[in-house]
Amino acid sequence: MIKQTLIKILPRPLVSTISRVIRYGASDLVDAVTGRRDPLIPPKSLIFIGGPLFKEIGDEQLRIFREVGGLTPDDAVLDVGCGIGRSARPLTAFLSPQGSYQGFDIDAGGIKWCVKNITPRFPRFHFQVADVYNKYYNPKGRSKGPEYVFPYADASFDFVFLTSVFTHMLPAEVDNYLGQIARVLKPGGRALISYFLWNAESAALQAKGGGNIGFPYTFGNYRVRDKDFPEDAICFDEDFIQSLNSKHGLSLAPPVRYGTWCGRENALSYQDFVLVKKP
Ligand SMILES: C[S@@+](CC[C@H](N)C(=O)[O-])C[C@H]1O[C@@H](n2cnc3c(N)ncnc32)[C@H](O)[C@@H]1O
Repeated sequence: MIKQTLIKILPRPLVSTISRVIRYGASDLVDAVTGRRDPLIPPKSLIFIGGPLFKEIGDEQLRIFREVGGLTPDDAVLDVGCGIGRSARPLTAFLSPQGSYQGFDIDAGGIKWCVKNITPRFPRFHFQVADVYNKYYNPKGRSKGPEYVFPYADASFDFVFLTSVFTHMLPAEVDNYLGQIARVLKPGGRALISYFLWNAESAALQAKGGGNIGFPYTFGNYRVRDKDFPEDAICFDEDFIQSLNSKHGLSLAPPVRYGTWCGRENALSYQDFVLVKKP
């Protein structure tokens, strides 16, 4: 109730930060004093990417990268929208000295934490800020998502992943990012990307009230949970995503691993995972 009132008068990211500090500040202080926090796990009040299950979700992501994406320890890896290192943490123990990791994100605070806490312990892990506008995550960003050029050479990576990133980006941005992913992948490289995908099954499940998230506002080929803050959560028509993959020369490696978000049972994870390959 107080949070909803604050959202009307203050920027959303600031309201989220305030509510995290109120909720977790005391336990962060206890962790700091007792020294019991894992140094690769941020204080809870800094975890802006949703939910307290930082370690559990990071471990699940690595399992999915290996089982679905075929990630191997020697891969050159790019983590697009790396947040505050949730996937990077388990990768520090998985990637071999021949492997490598690059991550970028538009949230300068998350990158700052990773640079300060992960890179000194694992110098092959590199993080950088992309100052791209996003109404929810980076409202003062100066670059535009539909024009942003990833700061990496062509054909640099074996494996690119995006977990819960295209679920916060608009269609023209996703279009450009898929083009950039195709550019930076090596021939034969793979990209594993999570989405909310709208198709006959997810539509039918949601019509019955399935799942814990809904997308009541439709705009052409996508739907959103909050029409004033579309980037809060975005669901794309599955056909649209497949047409973008084709446009950028990325071939689908079936099956799509549909998730539980819409009320589906016995799924791999919460979001839908799509694996694509560069021929
Ligand atoms: C829900 S968080 C997920 C973070 C991370 N992938 C993970 O699984 O922990 C969504 C992330 O997408 C990032 N993001 C949003 N738009 C972006 C863009 N245009 N480029 C790169 N990252 C973006 C946000 O800053 C945020 O860190």
